[in-house]
Amino acid sequence: MSTHKTRLAIFCSGSGSNFQAIFRALKKKQLNAEIVLCLSNRVECGAMEFARLNAIATVHLTEKQFDSLDDFAAAMLGSLTEQRIDIIVLAGYMRKVPDAVVTAFQDRIINIHPALLPKFGGEGMYGIYVHAAVLEAGETESGATVHLVNEEYDKGRILMQRHVPVLPDDTPETLAERVLACEHILYPDALEKILAEQQS
Ligand code: GAR
Repeated sequence: MSTHKTRLAIFCSGSGSNFQAIFRALKKKQLNAEIVLCLSNRVECGAMEFARLNAIATVHLTEKQFDSLDDFAAAMLGSLTEQRIDIIVLAGYMRKVPDAVVTAFQDRIINIHPALLPKFGGEGMYGIYVHAAVLEAGETESGATVHLVNEEYDKGRILMQRHVPVLPDDTPETLAERVLACEHILYPDALEKILAEQQS
């Protein structure tokens, strides 16, 4: 068994509740990993605030700060290299990870999606839009999926899923709340499994 503590970067865009669930689970489950970087396209958001409060390094990066996507990807890779990141954890990151970063971190980027992929994934399917589409389709169950990230939106290999019921009087908001609560269990569980495989 490796003694190296796996170094995680969390990418977020919003409230960061999955980030917080993972942060707590790392301690509770005594996992051999630590969150050493929070990268966000938003300088002010719940996730960045939580990182600052917990003395986790933060990086604010958006495409708009650069002349080209290549420069943006190079800056992102620079931050990841500087922090010697092993695994990137996307937790409510509402941007596409540049292809150069996906290539450099092949099979080392994971994402959580708020539906049962391969259904209800792809470009434009994020946040509340996913839950609205699930209700529109008349599904009787939904859930969350943790998957590897490749160059295509939500198409990487599925690692773990967890199901929740869709209730007759659900709105996108009530369904979102139920799915988010299930994500907070699923993401730490999936991470635990990945770390066990990687460190064995
Ligand atoms: C989560 O429901 C996550 O699955 C979703 O955004 C929310 C972020 O919440 N991600 C996507 O839709 C990505 N396609 P959080 O910031 O509280 O973790």
